[in-house]
Amino acid sequence: MDIVDIIRAKRDGARLTDEQIRFFIDAYTRGGVADEQASALLMAIVWRSLDTAELTTWTAAMIESGKRLDLSGIDAPTVDKHSTGGVGDKVSLVLAPLIATQGAADPMLSGRGLGHTGGTLDKLEAIPGWRADLDRSELMTVLRNVGCVICAAGGELAPADRKLYALRDVTGTVESIPLIASSIMAKKIAEGTGALVLDVKVGSGAFLPDAASARELAETMVRLGAAHGVKTSALLTNMDTPLGWAAGNALEVREALDALSGTGPKDLVEVTIALAEEMLALTGIEHTRSGLEAALGDGTARRKFKDMIAAQGGDLTGPLRDAPEQFVIESPAPGYLRRLDARAVGIAAWRLGAGRARKEDPVSAAAGVLCLKKPGDEVTEGEPLLVLHADDARRFGPARAALEGAFDIGAEPPEPRPLVLARIGP
Ligand code: URA
Repeated sequence: MDIVDIIRAKRDGARLTDEQIRFFIDAYTRGGVADEQASALLMAIVWRSLDTAELTTWTAAMIESGKRLDLSGIDAPTVDKHSTGGVGDKVSLVLAPLIATQGAADPMLSGRGLGHTGGTLDKLEAIPGWRADLDRSELMTVLRNVGCVICAAGGELAPADRKLYALRDVTGTVESIPLIASSIMAKKIAEGTGALVLDVKVGSGAFLPDAASARELAETMVRLGAAHGVKTSALLTNMDTPLGWAAGNALEVREALDALSGTGPKDLVEVTIALAEEMLALTGIEHTRSGLEAALGDGTARRKFKDMIAAQGGDLTGPLRDAPEQFVIESPAPGYLRRLDARAVGIAAWRLGAGRARKEDPVSAAAGVLCLKKPGDEVTEGEPLLVLHADDARRFGPARAALEGAFDIGAEPPEPRPLVLARIGP
């Protein structure tokens, strides 16, 4: 098999055969195809795409590049959620323990954040002692004993994706629906979960801001899940404004703890419950919305979260680290907050130190943005709208620049907008 023939075939718009796809993924993962050749093929795919059959084989080959997790030793139905990433998206921290209280098991293998959206592992690493890196036997022990585990994906899970994603990142080839769908789904299918719900974000803070692309991505991933025997559905959810009040690692853990105690922000709770209902429906576990709300209100879900954190070495007995420096942004006028832009808040939190520009950069546990007002809230002139948190006051200038033009105050409240925009699935 000649890699140059494969590149030429895709360049000219031909379908790749199963053998060509399997050869490429295997050879590239093992170092038998040069980066420049893989880049050329990826760029040809950006232009020419992959059809459903090619994409199914491409994803299967990525899964087979590593070891699939075997969850057959778990008695409960397994189900997971994946979000395409949003600002203030701490849903996983609340959702995994919540569905575990209902008798499902969630093996949530997760990643660190890059750019303006935070990563679940970065948030949990704000808890002193908490360990993301579990070996397979530790992961299975936490999942069996607690009913949920959130940890790092590890090198054995779809290693082809690790190499391909790093290459796509530096060759302008991330933005391809089949490449994104296969990258996300290979990792989730390799996780061994029986069912999967995708939270595909739409809006300014989302990875794919426009609704048509988000829908196409969701439909492609739902088809891929079904083709690989994983019951899959997707919710399209609004990401024009940050979810909840906080964007930043420790700030988000605190907010997740509030939500796990029944006192979380309305939007965060609404999206979490919608996803929980979707996940439980796929597993066939009987549940009610009021039962889920009760698990948040009566401390059951919070206890589950604490058990999961403690099983991974985390200590929640003391306070989480507070930022030494804070800067308040006030409302310039009285009225209603009509708009608060998610992407701008995400970039501000990132510039304050909550996120990283390169994979190897450290993140600050304490940095971030607290939104004291959300769209629809009434404000007086001079009332605090946002509080910036940082370890170093020199970060406030660049963060404030990101927030210029990020919000509007007007005489009328904005039209309320639904959070769950659509459902895609069987
Ligand atoms: N997230 C992934 O895991 N892969 C992509 O290609 C894009 C976002």
